[in-house]
Amino acid sequence: MKWDESYNTNVLVIDNDHKKLFELANKLEVLSEDEVPKAHLINNQIERLLDYTVYHFDREKGLMTKHDIAPLNQHIDDHDEFVGVAKEAYANWKRRGDVEDLKSLVRYLWNWLVEHIMESDMELAERLLLVDGINET
Ligand SMILES: [Fe+2]
Repeated sequence: MKWDESYNTNVLVIDNDHKKLFELANKLEVLSEDEVPKAHLINNQIERLLDYTVYHFDREKGLMTKHDIAPLNQHIDDHDEFVGVAKEAYANWKRRGDVEDLKSLVRYLWNWLVEHIMESDMELAERLLLVDGINET
């Protein structure tokens, strides 16, 4: 999937993370479309993606804490749910080696990411943008 300007929250650290997540997810998608999927490359990529996702979620949580913003609309629960579902899909893929598990993980990832950015992260950004100098560090 291509990054679209409409995904910008205008909080630079968040947008940079999201672009990085898009890049990682696109690489995973390409690997998942290989005629003969290369499991070790795929697993590596999933792990990089999961690691970066957790790192990014922690950053958002840190911003909420630092600027005293109460999480809205189950924002944190959404993050936890994502990690749970993605880890389960990853475990299924590793156990069964069925490329359909992998493809459903990729689909889930894209749907979740875009929806989450457009709703929860936009709401968070609206509040963060009220903080002086939010884009200056
Ligand atoms: Fe978020």
